[in-house]
Amino acid sequence: MRETLESINRDFQNDVTTADSLPALEEIRHRYFGRKGKINELFSRMPSLKPEERPAMGKAINDLRATMESEFQRRIEEVQAEEFTGVTVDPTLPGRKSYLGRLHPLTLVENEIIDIFVHMGFVVESGPEVETVHYNFDMLNTPLWHPARDETDTIYVTDNLLLRTETSPVQIHVMELQPPPVRMIAPGRVYRNEKPDATHGAMFMQVEGLYVDVGVDMADLKGTLLEFYRHLFGPETQIRFRPHYFPFTEPSAEVDVSCFLCGGRGCRVCKDSGWLEMGGSGMVDPAVFQGVGYDPEVYTGFAFGLGVERIAMLKFGIEDLRMLYENDLRLLRQF
Ligand code: DAH
Repeated sequence: MRETLESINRDFQNDVTTADSLPALEEIRHRYFGRKGKINELFSRMPSLKPEERPAMGKAINDLRATMESEFQRRIEEVQAEEFTGVTVDPTLPGRKSYLGRLHPLTLVENEIIDIFVHMGFVVESGPEVETVHYNFDMLNTPLWHPARDETDTIYVTDNLLLRTETSPVQIHVMELQPPPVRMIAPGRVYRNEKPDATHGAMFMQVEGLYVDVGVDMADLKGTLLEFYRHLFGPETQIRFRPHYFPFTEPSAEVDVSCFLCGGRGCRVCKDSGWLEMGGSGMVDPAVFQGVGYDPEVYTGFAFGLGVERIAMLKFGIEDLRMLYENDLRLLRQF
């Protein structure tokens, strides 16, 4: 039996030193220390020994097991260390790129718009996205028959509450709270009952502008917008007014800017017209002033509203408005 012990020890030494992976060592653990392993097999032979031989043999097996176990443990640690360094530190692997958080393209454009107007002396205001019919329509001189009031155009919360369809009601809140002069912009989200497509969204962003003082005229409006668009699209930019109708301005105009890509010669971006539609504007209707208690005989003012998505799409060459709201990292990481 002593010989068996020695031969087991020899085999074990040999097996352990040649095993060079954790699975191989696991297999050895099973073979020698397992329930049906060689050590237990030795113990199971004890009953066949003479009673006086048993204590010594028991001790010999226990000693052998102790040596083997410590040998086994040492080898496990050795192999673990080898596998560990082998897996995690490979100095030849290329580094992993880490991405920093960044601003959304709409936020970038919004910030740029705010920056330009703030430099011209405008103050940034805000108002609620859930509005009353009173502020969203009535106070903006919107006739009862106007289609914008319809449920097909506007998302109503109750008969009297709606998701604001424009940032124009912020004008009313601001004028109600302070006497002239007023020089403000109001960036924010607006909502329409619209089926989203490449150029329309049920939610989008506008920037409202309002300037009220003694002697403000249409030349101030045009000069202010020209200055603004030259900062936004470059110093060569031209603007033009097209007559239009808005309930809260008279006269009203839609604003076009010369195409920043082709300079007005005509290209894919401006659909060969040379011009890009930017938003609405006009001289504040006296009825609006009356509503907020400003004397229309003393004060005049201009107002404008422009769409932020359109500017972002033009500036960054984004062809589908919906991409601005999908948060696809492949797009967002480009900014
Ligand atoms: N509220 C208008 C819209 O959403 C845009 C607009 C036009 C705002 C003319 C104005 C303005 O302040 O004067 O279509």
